[in-house]
Amino acid sequence: MNSGDRTLNVALTIMAMLILGTAQAQTLPLYDDYKHMGPATCASSVCHGQVTPDETANVWLNEYRIWSRDDYHSRAFSVLRSDESMAMAEKLGLGNPTTEKVCLDCHTDNVPVERRGEKFQISDGVGCEACHGGAEKWIESHAEEGATREDNLARGMYPTDQPEARARLCLSCHVGTQDRFADHDIMAAGHPRMSFELETFTVNQPAHYEVDEGYIERKGNIRSVNMWSTGMVKKAKRQLELIQSERFTGHGIFPELAFFDCHACHHPMDDQRMQPTSITGHLPPGMVRLDDSSFQMLLAITSVVDSNGAEQLQRQVRALHTATTRSTDQVRSRAASLESTLDDMVRSVGGHDFSNADMQAIRATLLERASRGEYHDFTSAEQAFLAVETLSIELDDYHQLTDPLDAWFDTLADEHQFSPGRFASVANQVGRNVQ
Ligand code: HEC
Ligand code: HEC
Ligand code: HEC
Ligand code: HEC
Repeated sequence: MNSGDRTLNVALTIMAMLILGTAQAQTLPLYDDYKHMGPATCASSVCHGQVTPDETANVWLNEYRIWSRDDYHSRAFSVLRSDESMAMAEKLGLGNPTTEKVCLDCHTDNVPVERRGEKFQISDGVGCEACHGGAEKWIESHAEEGATREDNLARGMYPTDQPEARARLCLSCHVGTQDRFADHDIMAAGHPRMSFELETFTVNQPAHYEVDEGYIERKGNIRSVNMWSTGMVKKAKRQLELIQSERFTGHGIFPELAFFDCHACHHPMDDQRMQPTSITGHLPPGMVRLDDSSFQMLLAITSVVDSNGAEQLQRQVRALHTATTRSTDQVRSRAASLESTLDDMVRSVGGHDFSNADMQAIRATLLERASRGEYHDFTSAEQAFLAVETLSIELDDYHQLTDPLDAWFDTLADEHQFSPGRFASVANQVGRNVQ
């Protein structure tokens, strides 16, 4: 090969990396190469700091106001000043939580000092650039006439519109990574249990944008069913990755408890709720079960859109549970093989073109399994509810189901009083309403 070919090859590789990079592994904002300028930089009154949506621009331009007034992310740092956080830090033997890396990594845009611009303030919490990427190289250009999405991405904007990239971003704080993680010590010191579902959390974050015609033209239209299914594959994958990492080792004689179903341990002894399900039925009574809620959802999806995949998934999830009766090494090796199965599902499940019939069948499967008691672990029950809700919104019959869904939601309102039997029987009523 002559040097010209080599140059061409390098150029092609870089191009391929750029194309793939935008679709796949874009560096998370916390680790990007750019200065983070701080929300104040975005907030001027001619930029994103307007009071009401601007009718003439292609984005609202009141994003800062929405974020600072209504979005929990803008107060993520200030909660570290609360008595609750101080008490947690004390129990954990930490100093002030507003200066502890373990808290800051998820509760603000904790980039190193050399990547902080002039107006950057650590106390701003999870600001614009914690999601959209450091603005150093695009702060000027993205507002110029003719700026395209591609220009912006090439200058370091993070592709928050893409399901896989969005999942990776939100999961990095809402489930954790090898570097940022809320373990059982943190939970036991008083941190709220983490629960996450990509589509629901996308909807619950007060919208500072609208998916209208102009948006779709610029960025395409990702259906909520795909946001949900992609989020589920990515969340399951993240759990498996972490199980294979040092994070699973925990300390003392137990593995890290945060990977297990919290309520498997945390419920009164006279409440004998243990019930065999199709994936844990072979375990002896009293086993502490891994949190398998994401897999439960993937099993329901694949049973409709990929029945071979569903069988393999079911076998592998059962094997993962079995491994917990043996050794940490076996859990890790089962997690590794399950993870490679999920690699294929990013496309086949996350990117599936769901028809209405598919979505109806998945919803029916979820409700049927829920009424059989398959989701007697709280985390699975919670995910099943969110899934049925998301599917009903997408199927556009949600308004006919609000009463039964409200009744079903009530059975989840207090996780400490959760009754699997009641959840199952109300699921049965919801099921009768959708047929
Ligand atoms: C892996 C990321 C992560 C780490 C590490 C983490 N948190 Fe959190 N924290 C979150 C997320 C995400 C939420 C919101 C959970 C939800 O509502 O779903 C949260 C919620 C909280 C809340 C409740 C906030 C409210 O509005 O009621 C407090 C308090 C809190 N965290 C304090 C801390 C402290 C103190 C530390 C350090 C010891 C810490 N967190 C470490 C991600 C993290
Ligand atoms: C927790 C993550 C998060 C934070 C914090 C956040 N955003 Fe966003 N933002 C998103 C997501 C997700 C979208 C929708 C997907 C997309 O269009 O990229 C979005 C969309 C937008 C859009 C619409 C883009 C378009 O093409 O129509 C603008 C403008 C925007 N954000 C600006 C801001 C500003 C300014 C701030 C801070 C004041 C901010 N965002 C804070 C996640 C976030
Ligand atoms: C840098 C870490 C970080 C990232 C990235 C992040 N979040 Fe958060 N998020 C938090 C923290 C911390 C809280 C809790 C804030 C509080 O309650 O004070 C939170 C709270 C929320 C809440 C409110 C939760 C509740 O209990 O009502 C929603 C919804 C949410 N995030 C959605 C998202 C979505 C969607 C994404 C991805 C587009 C995302 N977050 C990305 C850290 C993050
Ligand atoms: C293997 C069993 C087990 C699992 C699984 C487990 N925990 Fe715990 N947890 C314990 C034990 C044991 C304690 C210590 C109780 C005590 O000190 O009285 C504890 C303590 C706690 C406490 C403090 C209670 C207190 O009285 O101070 C909280 C909160 C907590 N866990 C939350 C969670 C969450 C959230 C999860 C899931 C992410 C979880 N736990 C998973 C066994 C477990």
